[in-house]
Amino acid sequence: MSQPSSLPQPSDPPHPSGPPSRRAELIIRPAVIDDETALADLDRRTWSTLHSVQPRPQPPYDRFFTLHNRVDEILVAELGGHPVGYIRLVPPTPLACNAHVRQIQGLAVDERTRGRGVARALLGAACQEARRQGATRITLRVLGHNTPARRLYASEGFAVEGVLPGEFLLEGEYVDDVLMGRSLDR
Ligand SMILES: CC(C)(COP(=O)(O)OP(=O)(O)OC[C@H]1O[C@@H](n2cnc3c(N)ncnc32)[C@H](O)[C@@H]1OP(=O)(O)O)[C@@H](O)C(=O)NCCC(=O)NCCS
Repeated sequence: MSQPSSLPQPSDPPHPSGPPSRRAELIIRPAVIDDETALADLDRRTWSTLHSVQPRPQPPYDRFFTLHNRVDEILVAELGGHPVGYIRLVPPTPLACNAHVRQIQGLAVDERTRGRGVARALLGAACQEARRQGATRITLRVLGHNTPARRLYASEGFAVEGVLPGEFLLEGEYVDDVLMGRSLDR
């Protein structure tokens, strides 16, 4: 798991010269059941057709942790003691011949803490965790119009390995499903 690092809090001055007590510590850690409320809330607040192909969540809301979204598949980014993002890492299939691959199936960062390296830290920790599990390759799917996520993945060494053109019809627009992947050798 990655080591804690310091990130400016929203109220911090633009220069990192404030007293140490005002610096927020970023920690990437495994999810725990007690994260349910914070992650469910974060997921609802971050919903957008930029990244989601699910309909907008409506009450009564689904639980965050389910049999298909298990607590042991998720890493949480905690800033100043509060969950501000998560990443979900799973085997893409249960097949033995596919066991060397891990897939990212979920990444979200609270809008209030974006642009501060939280997603990059989560992605790095997920790659490290995939290696620890013995994987040699990591893949993901991203919507073609999701520029922030695509830039992040490209900058972390993920390459476009396939495109399903116009795979989803979102708010009247056909959107590509982009398949990306990278080796975990480095
Ligand atoms: C995509 C997302 C996870 C990025 O989170 P973040 O914590 O703000 O990202 P980081 O601060 O770690 O940024 C890392 C890199 O991502 C890219 N990036 C992030 N936000 C960006 C933006 N608004 N525009 C363009 N590139 C952006 C940049 O390459 C950035 O590196 P840089 O700061 O050196 O330029 C966040 O915007 C989010 O939660 N979006 C909604 C959910 C989503 O799209 N998930 C991905 C599903 S495939």
